[in-house]
Amino acid sequence: MQFPHEERIVNRDTMLVLNDICWGVPDKPVLRHVSLTVPDRKCVVVTGPNGGGKTSLAKLIAGIEQPDSGKILLDGRLINKLSVTERARSGIAYAFQQPVRFKGLTVRDLMELAAGQQMDEDALCETLSKVGLCAREYIDREVSAGLSGGESKRIEIATVLARRARLSVFDEPEAGIDLWSFQKLIDVFRDLLQETDGSLLIISHQRRILEIADEIVVIANGQVSAQGSRDEILPLLAAGVEKSCGCPLEGAHPYE
Ligand SMILES: Nc1ncnc2c1ncn2[C@@H]1O[C@H](COP(=O)(O)OP(=O)(O)OP(=O)(O)O)[C@@H](O)[C@H]1O
Ligand SMILES: [Mg+2]
Repeated sequence: MQFPHEERIVNRDTMLVLNDICWGVPDKPVLRHVSLTVPDRKCVVVTGPNGGGKTSLAKLIAGIEQPDSGKILLDGRLINKLSVTERARSGIAYAFQQPVRFKGLTVRDLMELAAGQQMDEDALCETLSKVGLCAREYIDREVSAGLSGGESKRIEIATVLARRARLSVFDEPEAGIDLWSFQKLIDVFRDLLQETDGSLLIISHQRRILEIADEIVVIANGQVSAQGSRDEILPLLAAGVEKSCGCPLEGAHPYE
C-alpha cells in the first residue's frame, strides 16, 4: 500500500508516535490531547491512576478503537484507519488487561495463530515456560474451559511473546500473576527487548516494571501528566508528586 508523502514522519529513532489524540464515549471525553512517542527498541511503561485512560490508549494503538482526532504513526506510517488485523500485520501485538477466551480454541491453536506458523513442542514449551507454565499440561487445553484467571493471563502474555512483534503492548501483565512468576516475567521482558527488533509498551502499576522502563509516561484524567526517562520520572512518582491524582507507587499493589 502506498502512503502520501505528507503522511510519513521519518525518524529512525522513533517507532510509535501518538500526536494530539482525543477519544471519548458519548458524554465522556476519555483521552484529551494525548501525545507521546515510543522510541525504537526501547521499553516505555505507561502508569497512572485507575480510570486514567491507559487501557483506552492501548486499544487505540491496537486498533480496537479509533481516535476521534489526532494521528497514530508506526514507523512513520499513518495507521489511524487500519483495522485491528491490519495493525497486527503491521507489527503491533496486544495482550489484553482481561484476556480473551475463544470457545473451542486450544492453547496450541492460539499460540500458533499468534506466531503465524506451526510450533513444535519445543518452541511451545520454551514460550510457555517463560510465563511459568508447563507446556505439556496446557497445549491441548481449551482456552475457554476452566483456565484460572492467572493461567489465561499468562497464556495471553505468551501469545504476544510468540509474535516477536515490532511493538508489543502489555496491559497490566502483573495482574493475577504470582510473585515467583512475576520476577521471571520481568526477565522475559528484558530478554524480549534484547532479542527482537522491537519495542515494548507496558501498562503497569508495578514498581519493578517501572524500573525496567527506558521511559515512563504518566496518564491521569485522560491526559499525559508526566513523561520522561525512568531516572527523571521515578523519583517524581516516589516523592508523591502525582499524589493529587492517585500516585501508582503508594503501595496499593500486594507485591510492593
Ligand atoms: N466503552 C466505554 N464506555 C464507557 N466508558 C468507558 C469506555 N471505555 C473506557 N471508559 C471509561 O474511560 C475511563 C478510562 O478507562 P480505562 O480503562 O482506559 O482506564 P485505565 O487507566 O486503564 O484504568 P485501570 O488502571 O483501572 O485499568 C474510565 O472512566 C472508563 O470507565
Ligand atoms: Mg486499564
